[in-house]
Amino acid sequence: MKPILDVKALKTQFLTEYGKITAVDDVSLVVNTGETLGVVGESGCGKTVLALSIMRLVPTPPGKIVSGEILYDGRNLLSLGDEEMRRIRGKEISMIFQEPMTSLNPVIRVGDQIAEGIRLHRGVSKIEAMNRAVEMLRLVGMPSPESIAMSYPHQMSGGMRQRVMIAMALCCDPRLMLADEPTTALDVTIQAQIIDLIDRLKKKAGSSVILITHDLGVIADAAQMVAVMYAGQIVEYGSVSELFLNPFHPYTVGLLESTPKIFGHSLPGGYLKTIPGAVPDMFRLPAGCRFQDRCVHVMDICREQAPEVKEKQLGRLVRCWIYS
Ligand SMILES: Nc1ncnc2c1ncn2[C@@H]1O[C@H](COP(=O)(O)OP(=O)(O)O)[C@@H](O)[C@H]1O
Ligand code: SF4
Ligand SMILES: [Mg+2]
Repeated sequence: MKPILDVKALKTQFLTEYGKITAVDDVSLVVNTGETLGVVGESGCGKTVLALSIMRLVPTPPGKIVSGEILYDGRNLLSLGDEEMRRIRGKEISMIFQEPMTSLNPVIRVGDQIAEGIRLHRGVSKIEAMNRAVEMLRLVGMPSPESIAMSYPHQMSGGMRQRVMIAMALCCDPRLMLADEPTTALDVTIQAQIIDLIDRLKKKAGSSVILITHDLGVIADAAQMVAVMYAGQIVEYGSVSELFLNPFHPYTVGLLESTPKIFGHSLPGGYLKTIPGAVPDMFRLPAGCRFQDRCVHVMDICREQAPEVKEKQLGRLVRCWIYS
């Protein structure tokens, strides 16, 4: 399968008044055509910054992509000019943001907002663009899409706004969709509907998805590949079917044990474990492995030297001294 996205050794930093944070540190990943890659990890581990880096939307300053490559369909996005990148954004790669209100304009009717994107990228007439916008609203399951198109974002529920965002993200049939915690703000039944909707639209358009979440259950349902992030780095990477059945990294094991109802990992009596401790301070990362203070298998070397990524099995990457 040909990768649509091939990220190599990406590093994104923020220079703040308190010091420097490497929010994305040596991240490499591949997304194949038609595939969904799940990215999972606790809050603050760099998921959003990773997606913003791929979109080239990291706020600069204080942020900056300092090294690496982002090969989209063979072209390095980091070497494109702003104008070329604007053309790719929305049309070929689109992003569904964590909080819909931040990316919907409160004073423009949602139909006009969707139509504007269509006109920008497809050069069609105003009427054609509006027809397509209504069709997109219907596709994302809006009841009476014609009247929704005439509404303002604040007149809708959170679930409806999220659907509008998805309609906007998908109106030009992007080849790659980045969905950043698209369901976090929604209740459980709507969550399942939105994940299902993204999956159906992906299959219909033959596109690929990066699905960012802190919930492994969502990934088990919707993704084929998964990258587990911890403190700015990918610590484990592999296919969902293999990684969930046989996790290597102690952090992945901890995540699985703290997630209800995932195959092979429900604990007797239904008790869920939690991973002790907290994520390290990104301004003061320890020498060695970043997971050391929470790891039950920690060894002397873990406190001295940072583990490198190793391919433990074909297509299964892990960053841990146990496997080095
Ligand atoms: N605009 C910013 N300025 C400074 N630091 C930032 C900014 N955005 C993100 N960060 C830092 O980058 C790290 C990763 O954040 P983020 O990608 O939002 O995490 P996640 O999406 O996994 O919860 C965090 O330590 C966060 O504080
Ligand atoms: S490198 Fe050491 S501390 Fe880090 S996860 Fe592996 S065993 Fe645990
Ligand atoms: Mg985030």
